[in-house]
Amino acid sequence: VNKIMDKQKLLDEIAKKIEETEGGPLKAPGINSVPGEGNPDTDVFFCGEAPGFNENEQKRPFVGVSGKLLRRVMVENGFLEKDVFITNIVKFRPPENRDPTPQEIEFFKPFLDKQIEIIDPKVIVTLGRFSMYKFLGEGVGITRIHGQPHSINWHGKTVTIFPMFHPAAALRDPSTMKFIKEDFIKLK
Ligand code: URA
Repeated sequence: VNKIMDKQKLLDEIAKKIEETEGGPLKAPGINSVPGEGNPDTDVFFCGEAPGFNENEQKRPFVGVSGKLLRRVMVENGFLEKDVFITNIVKFRPPENRDPTPQEIEFFKPFLDKQIEIIDPKVIVTLGRFSMYKFLGEGVGITRIHGQPHSINWHGKTVTIFPMFHPAAALRDPSTMKFIKEDFIKLK
């Protein structure tokens, strides 16, 4: 219990620091920080791309249409929202939901890296290509490697990277939905 409380305290400090950037390179009127949420002591860490409109409104990750889809499939496979941690590469919404730039990804990297260090998960599930590139490099293709666990050395610790399609892709293409469901069964 003490360990969980300590981790939560450290994560709260990071969330505060994220908020204090006021968006950094994404600073804009009405922008809110979306630091991430969940169990500070989880084994399973979900990392998406960037908040969208609904995430910015609610200051929570993955609460829009694709987020609801992700959370539903997660729960259906026994990954309860209170048991996992969910966050993004970039902690504020890019305008018009455009892709994050390399500079924006770099700006928020220390915060994400610190969240991973504090939580120290066994598995990092990457949702979408930017998150996958962070851990596996840019030479990989999601279509080929989704659902395959990759054991990597992450700052001196072994962690399993589990690449998945982004749930937004499943909204556009039902066959991608099938892959996400199959990958969740493998993740289990
Ligand atoms: N897409 C993401 O990558 N992250 C969110 O938080 C919501 C949608």
